[in-house]
Amino acid sequence: MSKNIFPEKDRFLSRSDKETLLKQKGLVVWFTGLSGAGKSTLALALERNLHKQGLLTQILDGDKIRNGLNKNLGFTAEDRNENIRRIAEVGKLFSDCGLITISAFISPTHAIRSMAREIIGDDNFFEIYVSTPIEVCEQRDPKGLYQLAHNGIIKDFTGVSAPYEPPQDADLIIDTSKLSVKESTKLITDTILPKVKILIT
Ligand code: ADX
Repeated sequence: MSKNIFPEKDRFLSRSDKETLLKQKGLVVWFTGLSGAGKSTLALALERNLHKQGLLTQILDGDKIRNGLNKNLGFTAEDRNENIRRIAEVGKLFSDCGLITISAFISPTHAIRSMAREIIGDDNFFEIYVSTPIEVCEQRDPKGLYQLAHNGIIKDFTGVSAPYEPPQDADLIIDTSKLSVKESTKLITDTILPKVKILIT
């Protein structure tokens, strides 16, 4: 009789071992959209909603991550690619641990989002396109960056001097110029809950 060469104690715990412990399924909720579209606001509100449901989450947000893990990266196409590659790898680690990972990055191109989807895995990736029109984002301009971009002070600014390619295959589309934060968050929460809740019988 052949002996199992990997004894149980040397086996990595599986994702489902951890999901069972947490009583939830891991997922990466991936927000994409222009700066000022509302990605971070929706990420925060979604996290609060899921928390109320007893679900464990982790937010990965462009502005925060770019001050820490990715502080050596700028906004060239190459740096944005590396930014998203690292975030996707982190999202994969978190979701493999059973966490609902909420990421909010412009992630401006089809290629960049396909890379993220591929790293994370199709079944594990829920893409939300925050489709708020650029005119509204420019009007909001919460950080004054659109103004600086129009004045040429910031180069390669998404939507002004760098491209944004709207997704064609998003799982959900939210226009925050038409829906309130509350309405948007309810819609997202209602769609996501069945994917992440483990029914206890
Ligand atoms: S991404 O393109 O690589 O996905 P990310 O979401 O991490 O971008 O960062 C976007 C945030 O960085 C914006 O919300 C804005 O606050 C800031 N920012 C600074 N310079 C730029 C730029 N040139 N283009 C876009 N966003 C910029």
